[in-house]
Amino acid sequence: MCGIVGYTGSQSAITPLIEGLRRLEYRGYDSAGIALGTPGRLYIEKRAGKLANLEAALGDSVPTAHSGIGHTRWATHGGPTDRNAHPHVDNEGKLAVIHNGIIENYTQLRADLLSRGHRFESDTDTESVAHLLSDLRKSHNGDLAAAMREAVKSLRGSFTLLAIHADNPDVIVGVRRNSPLVVGLGDGENFLASDVAAFIDYTKRAVELGQDEVVTITSEGIEITNLDGAKLAPKEYEITWDSSAAQKGGFHHFMLKEIFEQPKAVADTLLGRLNERNQIVLDELHLTKEEVQDLKKIVVLACGTAYHAGMVAKYAIEKWAKITVEVELASEFRYRDSVIDNQTLVIAISQSGETMDTLMALRHAKEAGARVLAVCNTNSSTIPRESDAVLYTHAGPEIAVASTKAFLTQVIAVYLIGLYLAQVRGVMSDVEVKNLFNEMVELPGKIEQILETVEPLRELTRGFASSTSVLFLGRNVGFPVALEGALKLKELAYMHAEGFAGGELKHGPIALIEEGTPVIAILPIGHEHGLDEKMLSNIQEVKARGARIIVIAQEGAEVAGAEHIIRIPVAPALLQPILATVPLQVFAYEMAVTRGNDVDQPRNLAKSVTVE
Ligand code: F6R
Repeated sequence: MCGIVGYTGSQSAITPLIEGLRRLEYRGYDSAGIALGTPGRLYIEKRAGKLANLEAALGDSVPTAHSGIGHTRWATHGGPTDRNAHPHVDNEGKLAVIHNGIIENYTQLRADLLSRGHRFESDTDTESVAHLLSDLRKSHNGDLAAAMREAVKSLRGSFTLLAIHADNPDVIVGVRRNSPLVVGLGDGENFLASDVAAFIDYTKRAVELGQDEVVTITSEGIEITNLDGAKLAPKEYEITWDSSAAQKGGFHHFMLKEIFEQPKAVADTLLGRLNERNQIVLDELHLTKEEVQDLKKIVVLACGTAYHAGMVAKYAIEKWAKITVEVELASEFRYRDSVIDNQTLVIAISQSGETMDTLMALRHAKEAGARVLAVCNTNSSTIPRESDAVLYTHAGPEIAVASTKAFLTQVIAVYLIGLYLAQVRGVMSDVEVKNLFNEMVELPGKIEQILETVEPLRELTRGFASSTSVLFLGRNVGFPVALEGALKLKELAYMHAEGFAGGELKHGPIALIEEGTPVIAILPIGHEHGLDEKMLSNIQEVKARGARIIVIAQEGAEVAGAEHIIRIPVAPALLQPILATVPLQVFAYEMAVTRGNDVDQPRNLAKSVTVE
């Protein structure tokens, strides 16, 4: 979950490197560093903390070089210090390496290298690769790519590595295993990066790299080989994201911009999904009618916010398609003997498509014979590539670390899957499906309505800024919404926040209520089981113990006992998460701003979690 960028070409490398790192800072911001391909000896600068610290250290005296590598770090092995910042160099200071991931056998490597006389300057796993490559390059007559191929054979773990050597500074060599790396093809220049956002201003032509593939870039071209040195044909594709989508566009923070992009993101994800015969169009699923009929169960695998989208999937798919849905934290599923087979459809939900826990769980499910469908926002990332089928959400690039628009589009995607399965299995009529789909089409306008009237909520939020703890209550699909509201508040405002199912309150959590504790309750929509009344009782129970209550309720719903009511537009009960989540995102955002926190890059987090 570090950000990696490499450049070689006609312009001064410092500009694309720093711009690329700025775009990749969401992946980690514990330290940043660069190595420039100045002949004879590399120019290296690295600093703990954000990219701004590196920029300040660079000042105006950076030597001109036409190639280089850059890194922004999320620390794993070794604290976030100058010493541990990447690049790491060999003892001659001629070979530099940057790395995303974890080298699992680095202790052994380090011991071997120490016994061969290498000196280590850092506590990282990465530095051992710099020393190893240095030795191997010598035994391969200065061929850095050949050295990389051999080095990788002795590495265990997950990694993207880039290396540069001062004797041949215009050549950059990269490799990936279980960690992302894309090539950008420019005109007289080429790029390497963890994510296309790093070079999107320079080129829209990209090449994806497979597992254990080694790439060499020069200003002239690229060469890809497998670990045996056999040449491979590049798989080129065009990047459809435009660069303005990755800028703040007038908003103070990417997160706020992304919250306001949600109407469009939802509309884009729904586009073209109902045909003139009122059938849900999901050709990407590649399931025959018989395979859909034969499905015994669905298992949803995901982490964090994506897991909450999975929880919504359970309520919707079970209700509509009448198939059992289990929702599992990917990190738990991987290490459990779960009962799955070829009649199980596994849905792996991931914004980034690179989350290691989800990837490992997906592989585990495939080994057990399940068919895997990815719901993903990032084209050509690892999770969709390793799945049998992929349904892309169309949220556009999500830069803020806290997920907002990706979540809403993940929920839309699972609704589409639910309706599709219900229709193919004959559980819902075409008219019922059409009616629900048309309700979904109304959602973007309703989200807009919420966003247009959000100022009073922002003001209200500021009044709770000194609270130490906030509790969220929900029932039915409101329960995952409560969990999501609490997660957003934790990660952004650094406040204690918990989400509970309303019915669980009396089984323990009510003990947390003290005089003045804020409780945010999501009032279920006039439900067949009278859940709205049950939630109103929960509200009375916490109010009687001193809680200050904020209720999220649909327009027209009667609410007794609330100090504040946030109204959301009317929608069918199962679609409520799309609307009820939005005020909670704004609440967490405003709380973080009021408390002076870094909204887009909260402490200790990273956008793309590529370690287990
Ligand atoms: C929270 C958040 C995380 C991610 C989780 C999974 O705001 O963003 O909890 O949802 O790390 O990430 P993806 O969806 O990329 O697999």
